[in-house]
Amino acid sequence: MKNEITRREFVGVTATAAVAGSLASTDATAAEGEFKPIKILGIACSPRKGMTTAKAVQAALDAAKGLDARIQVELIDLGGLDIAGYSPAPPPDDFVSILPKLQDPAVVGLIIGSPSYFRGCSSLCKAFIERCAPLREPKMLLDGKPVGVIATGGFRNGGQELVIEQIQTAMLCFGMIPVGGRPPAFQGGTVLATKDDISSDELGLGTARNTGLRVADFALKLAGVKREA
Ligand SMILES: Cc1cc2nc3c(=O)[nH]c(=O)nc-3n(C[C@H](O)[C@H](O)[C@H](O)COP(=O)(O)O)c2cc1C
Repeated sequence: MKNEITRREFVGVTATAAVAGSLASTDATAAEGEFKPIKILGIACSPRKGMTTAKAVQAALDAAKGLDARIQVELIDLGGLDIAGYSPAPPPDDFVSILPKLQDPAVVGLIIGSPSYFRGCSSLCKAFIERCAPLREPKMLLDGKPVGVIATGGFRNGGQELVIEQIQTAMLCFGMIPVGGRPPAFQGGTVLATKDDISSDELGLGTARNTGLRVADFALKLAGVKREA
């Protein structure tokens, strides 16, 4: 139970005796629906839907979800979607369907994944971030929320850390708090794809999971959930 919230703390957070009673004989999962959801969105920015970047981001989301029953996760796979970069009059493309998910007040953290394309993020990732301007104005909706980043590449040292840095830097403009992964994944998720497969990259998948856990750690803190050290 080292990383699980204690029952006493849980009751303290929820502050209702009735709920406390109901938890006495069940685990936190039973009470999931009774609390404000803590939502973490994953955004996979490869033009190839369901491929290695989406899988790596999903691994991070699964790890985040496994940390606490109140955490809800959703993967937004941009693969196959039509998203143009910023322009003064953006076209009515697929970003329109994504924006409301990002504006949801329940969203407490993001995990953004991009393939390394010539040691930089994908143009789809850049376009996505540029189009997120409505999340800055009129209100900084992502201010103070954690963002973790995962980069996939065909080479072990294929620029993944540069991609992470690029995305983290961009998200500073939204007031987000860039986090790495839990140690030793200090910068985030750096994943190696071999023939479009990441399943054998245990080290890289570990960094992706650790990134999900780190975002979840901060999301829970933001939500006022106290956990044992
Ligand atoms: C245009 C292009 C440029 C690429 N440049 C790099 C690179 O600089 N470093 C690297 O490690 N892999 C590079 N790759 C490989 C991809 O990053 C890798 O295949 C990644 O897993 C693709 O993500 P996906 O499976 O989600 O589409 C490149 C691939 C493409 C298509």
